[in-house]
Amino acid sequence: MYKINENYQKLPGSYLFSNIAKKVNAFSAANPEKKIIRLGIGDVTQPLAPAVIEAMHGAVDEMAHAETFRGYAPDLGYDFLRSAIADGDYRARGCEISEDEIFVSDGAKSDSGNIQEIFAQDNRIAVCDPVYPVYVDSNVMAGRTGTYDAAAGMWSDVIYMPCTMANNFVPEFPKETPDLIYLCLPNNPTGTTITRTQLQEWVDYANRVGAVIIYDAAYEAYISEENVAHSIYECEGAKSCAIELRSFSKNAGFTGVRLGFTVVPKELKCGDVSLNAMWARRHGTKFNGAPYIVQRAGEAVYSEAGRAQLSEQVAYYMRNAKLIKEGLSDAGYTVFGGVNAPYIWLKTPEGMTSWDFFDYLLANANVVGTPGSGFGPSGEGYFRLTAFGSLENTKAALERIKNL
Ligand code: MLT
Repeated sequence: MYKINENYQKLPGSYLFSNIAKKVNAFSAANPEKKIIRLGIGDVTQPLAPAVIEAMHGAVDEMAHAETFRGYAPDLGYDFLRSAIADGDYRARGCEISEDEIFVSDGAKSDSGNIQEIFAQDNRIAVCDPVYPVYVDSNVMAGRTGTYDAAAGMWSDVIYMPCTMANNFVPEFPKETPDLIYLCLPNNPTGTTITRTQLQEWVDYANRVGAVIIYDAAYEAYISEENVAHSIYECEGAKSCAIELRSFSKNAGFTGVRLGFTVVPKELKCGDVSLNAMWARRHGTKFNGAPYIVQRAGEAVYSEAGRAQLSEQVAYYMRNAKLIKEGLSDAGYTVFGGVNAPYIWLKTPEGMTSWDFFDYLLANANVVGTPGSGFGPSGEGYFRLTAFGSLENTKAALERIKNL
């Protein structure tokens, strides 16, 4: 008789955003006349940039002719994209990352869920609390997190680093020593970040205790302040302790196109074993490469026209972020984030729980956000709104919230 992976049975409930979608669908079915504004999941709403569309059309045409048709993509990514990334995201910022340290994938969600596979099962993970749920859930599936305390919303073997108003949302070095440290900066969900100097302290800490930082930089395009690092490799010593995850979803609107990459430096070694070689082996075995058409679209993100168009798109969303931040502050809410990230993190009013506020907002303003407690126990009493809506919907949602 076969057995299942019992670790899956330990997962509480369903994935946060699936849960929210179910609740919203039920509300919508019961109230078909209500126009719901969705500022919950961080999904983009603006169309792909013209430079990206043009590159995709060109690649589609190539697929129509035997001479230019492409089959399986190289499993680690096409050279044209890996070199555009190495130049555009790293060399341009003074980081020496080479093409063969870059692994192209179908997005940062899969990479952030899969990366734990190359580490031993008894490694201790440390996560910020609140946290993007994929980091914890994928470690639950792997059997690395111990037992779940439903009342506390915490796993016995996970090291939590609370990020709240009390510490300005800056994670502190944990009392217990972790083996793997997940950092998402600028942060999802709080929309806050740390300075380059603070990040350097994390890199020094990881090198000192022999930990690996899994650094999710999916929101780096939204950084507006000079003293914030776009890549962890801007910090000295990061190549011997950090893996960086990047996405094309938020900077270029590829949520439905799917493209991302992971950087595993060759200097990152456990004894004699290269993590770069391990990830290449894993990628080669389990992944058949992102589609050619999509990788050509990704290349266009780094073209002159692509850069200009996408910086306008980022500015569009950040204008929404500013509107939400200022509008809610004026309405008396305590609000964080929205300066270096497309997320606004607010204190729920009158001591409401995060889910109570979710229900209240949905029922009375027909606006969907994300309850902070869905991201971890320290998210209780907070609520996330995304700036990825259209300008019109963002303004309308704000009006509705102000009029509550
Ligand atoms: C979020 O809303 O937190 C993100 O969109 C989820 C994701 O990127 O997978």
